Amino acid sequence: METIRSPDELRYWVESWRLENRSVGFVPTMGALHAGHLALVRHASQLADRVVASIFVNPTQFGAGEDFERYPRDEERDSELLQEGGCHLLFLPEPSTIYPQGHSTFVEMGPPAERLEGEFRPGHFRGVATVVTLLLNLVRPDHAVFGQKDAQQLAVVRRLVRDLHLPVEIASHPTVREPDGLAMSSRNAYLSAEERTAASAIYRALSSAREHIEQGEHSATEIRRVLREVLEREPLIDIEYAEVVEADSFEPAGVIRGSIVMPVAVQIGTTRLIDNIPMEVD
Ligand code: PAF
Repeated sequence: METIRSPDELRYWVESWRLENRSVGFVPTMGALHAGHLALVRHASQLADRVVASIFVNPTQFGAGEDFERYPRDEERDSELLQEGGCHLLFLPEPSTIYPQGHSTFVEMGPPAERLEGEFRPGHFRGVATVVTLLLNLVRPDHAVFGQKDAQQLAVVRRLVRDLHLPVEIASHPTVREPDGLAMSSRNAYLSAEERTAASAIYRALSSAREHIEQGEHSATEIRRVLREVLEREPLIDIEYAEVVEADSFEPAGVIRGSIVMPVAVQIGTTRLIDNIPMEVD
C-alpha cells in the first residue's frame, strides 16, 4: 500500500490504474479504524480492481463543543490495518489541502439532511456533503462505499450524488456489531466500562422494534414507543431521538411499509452514539 498526501500523487496513481483499465473503489474515513471500516474496504475490493481509502478528520462536520479535538487519531495503526485489509492507496491529506486558504464553497442540502442529525448537529451535513464532494472530485472513483451505520449520511450522499450528477456508484455495507450488538464506532472508545454495558441497550431496543414489525406491527407510533420503552429502562441513556423514517427521504414514516429505517441517537455520559436498523416491509 502506498501512502500519499497530495492531490498530484493521487491523480498520478488513479490515472495510471485507468491506463491499465482498472476500476477504482473508494472508502472515505476519519480514521480510528475498526472492523466496520475494514468491511467497507473489503466490499470496495469486491466492486473494483483498486481500493483507495482516505483518512481525514473533517473539521467542517463538527459543531462547536463537539469532539473534533478529542476525536481519536492513530495514523500508524490505521495504516497497518488498511494495508492488511487489502487497501492499495491511502490518501492522508492535510487540512490545508482540503480547505486551502480562502476556501468558501460549501454544499448546502435540503432533505434528507434536515431532520434528526441535521437538527441535533446543525451544520453537520453541510460539512459532510462538502467534504464528500471534494473527496469524490479528487479521487474520481467508480465506486464509493459507505457504512449503513450512518444511515442518514448514506441517504444524504446518495441524494448529493444524484442531484449533482456525480459520476460514481454509491454502495453501502451493513453495520458491523460487537458480540452484544453494539454497532462498531470510533466513538465507542470514549465509553467507561459502565457506559459500555449501558450502550448495549441501543441494539436491544432496535431488535425489539424489529421483532414487533416482523410480527406484523405497522404503526410507526407504536414502534417509536417500543424503542423508547427499552431505551428508557437504561438510566445512563438520554434519548435524543428514536424514530421510524422513510429510507430515502428520512421523513417520518406513518404506516410502516416499503424501505424504512429506525434511527436512534443517544447520549451516554459525554458520548453521543447513533445506530439504526433498516428494513424492507411488505
Ligand atoms: O463517515 C465518516 O467517517 C465521515 O462522515 C466521512 C464520510 C468520511 C466524511 O468526513
